[in-house]
Amino acid sequence: MTVEKQITLILVLQLLSSVESQVNPAVCRYPLGMTGRQIPDEDITASSQWSESTAAKYGRLDLEEGDGAWCPEMPVDPEELTEFLQIDLRVLHFITLVGTQGRHAGGHGNEFAQMFKINYSRDGTRWISWRNRHGSQVLEGNVNPYDIVLKDLEPPIIARFLRFIPVTDHSMNVCLRVELYGCAWLDGLVSYNSPSGQQFLLPEGQIVNLNDTIYDGAVGYSMTEGLGQLTDGVSGLDDFTLTHEYHMWPGYDYVGWSNESFPNGYVEIMFEFDRIRNFTTMKVHCNNMFSKGVKIFKEVQCFFRSEANEWEANSVISVLIMDDANPSARYVTVQLHNHMARAIKCQYYFADSWMMFSEITFESDAAMYNNSLSPPRPASVPTTYDPTLKIDDSNTRLLIGCLVAIIFILLAIIVIILWRQFWQKMLEKASRRMLDEELTVSLSIPSDSNTYNANRRHESMSTSEHESNSTYDRIFPLGPDYQELTAQAVVEEEAGYSAGKLALPTNADGVPHYAEADIVNLQGVTGGNTYSVPAITMDLLSGKEVAVEEFPRKHLTFKEKLGEGQFGEVHLCEAEGVEDFLDKDLILDTNIGLPTLVAVKMLRADANKNARNDFLKEIKIMSRLKDPNIIRLLAVCIAEDPLCMITEYMENGDLNQFLSRQQAENEPCSAALNITYSDLRYMAAQIASGMRYLSSLNFVHRDLATRNCLVGRNYTIKIADFGMSRNLYSGDYYRIQGRAVLPIRWMSWESILMGKFTTASDVWAFAVTLWEMLTFCQEQPYSEMSDEQVIENTGEFFRDQGKQVYLPQPEICPDKVYKLMLSCWRRETRVRPSFQEIYQLLQPDPNLEN
Ligand SMILES: *[C@@H]1O[C@H](CO)[C@@H](O)[C@H](O)[C@H]1NC(C)=O
Ligand SMILES: *[C@@H]1O[C@H](CO)[C@@H](O)[C@H](O)[C@H]1NC(C)=O
Ligand SMILES: *[C@@H]1O[C@H](CO)[C@@H](O)[C@H](O)[C@H]1NC(C)=O
Ligand SMILES: *[C@@H]1O[C@H](CO)[C@@H](O)[C@H](O)[C@H]1NC(C)=O
Ligand SMILES: *[C@@H]1O[C@H](CO)[C@@H](O)[C@H](O)[C@H]1NC(C)=O
Repeated sequence: MTVEKQITLILVLQLLSSVESQVNPAVCRYPLGMTGRQIPDEDITASSQWSESTAAKYGRLDLEEGDGAWCPEMPVDPEELTEFLQIDLRVLHFITLVGTQGRHAGGHGNEFAQMFKINYSRDGTRWISWRNRHGSQVLEGNVNPYDIVLKDLEPPIIARFLRFIPVTDHSMNVCLRVELYGCAWLDGLVSYNSPSGQQFLLPEGQIVNLNDTIYDGAVGYSMTEGLGQLTDGVSGLDDFTLTHEYHMWPGYDYVGWSNESFPNGYVEIMFEFDRIRNFTTMKVHCNNMFSKGVKIFKEVQCFFRSEANEWEANSVISVLIMDDANPSARYVTVQLHNHMARAIKCQYYFADSWMMFSEITFESDAAMYNNSLSPPRPASVPTTYDPTLKIDDSNTRLLIGCLVAIIFILLAIIVIILWRQFWQKMLEKASRRMLDEELTVSLSIPSDSNTYNANRRHESMSTSEHESNSTYDRIFPLGPDYQELTAQAVVEEEAGYSAGKLALPTNADGVPHYAEADIVNLQGVTGGNTYSVPAITMDLLSGKEVAVEEFPRKHLTFKEKLGEGQFGEVHLCEAEGVEDFLDKDLILDTNIGLPTLVAVKMLRADANKNARNDFLKEIKIMSRLKDPNIIRLLAVCIAEDPLCMITEYMENGDLNQFLSRQQAENEPCSAALNITYSDLRYMAAQIASGMRYLSSLNFVHRDLATRNCLVGRNYTIKIADFGMSRNLYSGDYYRIQGRAVLPIRWMSWESILMGKFTTASDVWAFAVTLWEMLTFCQEQPYSEMSDEQVIENTGEFFRDQGKQVYLPQPEICPDKVYKLMLSCWRRETRVRPSFQEIYQLLQPDPNLEN
């Protein structure tokens, strides 16, 4: 027998993978068919039933059939969790979200499950208890028999069978209606077996645990028969010691091995699939932080097995040519040359002392994930084929021709209308864009589900302008006063525009008040900047040229990637001789003799025209901002592509890391700076001062947080804006459908609920930032609450019935300052303090400091 090996050379440069070949947990949130009935009755079973009319098949979310829900025969006993509702999805699915509801039955029912657990299985025999990332099994359920409660599954589940197990704190009757959300698991992977992840010892003595925490098989020296972090859809960051998941230990995202334990020079991982598949590629997301001895594997050899127990002699060898000096983590694509197999075994060869993977995905049988946004239909709905439908060929062609023509004409008309309206409507649109985005931050629920929540008592605010599928109206049913307020706000806004309000709005004393209606937002194209600027200022700006100079690109030396957005990247660079390009009034915070560190925001060369225009606009605005506490735009490179803007960077990095680092270093008796309350107060006063400047120009920052403030020498602070593009802080942003990303924990209630961003909402965010500082950034604001709970809490702020939860007073925070924070979180924007007042209050207090 000849041993045939296919050898491939892979050139690893910047391999950006196509999104469609991987499951994207942010998009994979389609209802799987309890409500929509794609799951047939016979696939819904249960441990028992109370009566025929409360059988398992009535456990469909939002439907009211039979007696309104599934109910088990006996009351659920907190000691014995034996009752369950089971769903068979027929094939493996990636499940990201579950919804539960009690029995309402038009007002007759009053049973619901306060809590529940989930068991799942891929083969129907081995059942696994789901646990969240902290190891807890119990999920919060319903609080009344009618509202739907949605729970994100973190980590997501890959399974065919799912059991909902009601949990109670005392013996009680329980009924349940459920829905699953996710998509088909096209990888088909049933398990991977691999050596267990190991511990990495940083030189500072910190242990980075690279184990596979959510692996659901057996774990010993090696891991068998399970899936875990390599398939959870979360890829790791460039720096493996950081993590995507908040509150997790360093290295959480990666599974890693040291070459010391593998004398053969490779790590072998075996993958088993649900059936024989025709494999095109394998993608491995690898860390490549070579400064710490971590590299992408240098070679991989894969073996294939079909039905028989023997591994085929034919194997695929891929040799990687690494000639770049790019330390970014990335996907490496390995061609599998259409081998047919049910199991694959790959040996990954070490290129250095460590190898770390965060995701492995397989593409087979030309199956593609549908990762397009806001799909109108659930992905799992089988396309119905009606055999009685016969097609008359000639007529069809004619019909298609006509339809195509009509569509073209309509499109042309639409384009013309849009074009004409574009300029005049732009200002109006921009201010509503945020609102729009937030409200459609919703589940991928088909748009015809207006009756989705049968118990919704009021039409939601979104119905006026948007499809009423907002998650929010389900998370907290809105009262009628809420609706009125919104309608009124919209009317005001429109009136403001049609009346051609152009003067800067001021109150009697000539102080600009919060010009809610006149704010136009300019969303930074690189994913970060979100300053807003009133229309009048924009007109002024457009007349003038950019006030900064062109900088020769070749004098920039790349140091580190700070972040990445949809259209560009932010790099930390050294700029040689940048001093010569600056205004005379600007003195940089640099060490004499050392090259100047700058942040370079870069627009990708392939960005579209709109993105380019926005980028140039951003430059114009930035170049006008001159304040000692605002990051300055130093120079630009706009003579040729890629367009860049060069801004200051400060030697101590961002305030969040600065403070949390100090705190960590303070414990062992090191020479760390001992930051006192008065240092913190001094820094906060500088932020207030910078914000006072922005608000005097009617600029709204919209993302004030410690991660967006930079620290220089002697605790100088400058406010910057690229936080949103930094992967490190992705946990601070709430994302659904991979689209809108919102720093909800810093946002005022009116920003979250109504999309209103004003100086008053910046004041709110300032108080959250102050709170972060006084707790040394040891935890995220409201860290006890899930994102959904934070949004719920926002609703309480709106309702103002005393049920809202405020951030607690930090230990070192004087009462006076806590009172200030509380005043920044007042419900009415007009009674929140101004930045001027805040700045005054943060001046040194001789009684507290000496
Ligand atoms: C759920 O799974 C666990 C094993 O992980 C098992 O002990 C338990 O009995 C299962 N419960 C049900 C109701 O299937
Ligand atoms: C992985 O490491 C963490 C942190 O040290 C530890 O708490 C956890 O028990 C480990 N998990 C497994 C499965 O080894
Ligand atoms: C696997 O798929 C490729 C392309 O889709 C096809 O050309 C090839 O014939 C398939 N192989 C088998 C054995 O079916
Ligand atoms: C592990 O890798 C390092 C760096 O490439 C090398 O110096 C060392 O000899 C390797 N150890 C083993 C056991 O192969
Ligand atoms: C993917 O989803 C989009 C948007 O819903 C839809 O138009 C398209 O047909 C889908 N594609 C596939 C292959 O299902």
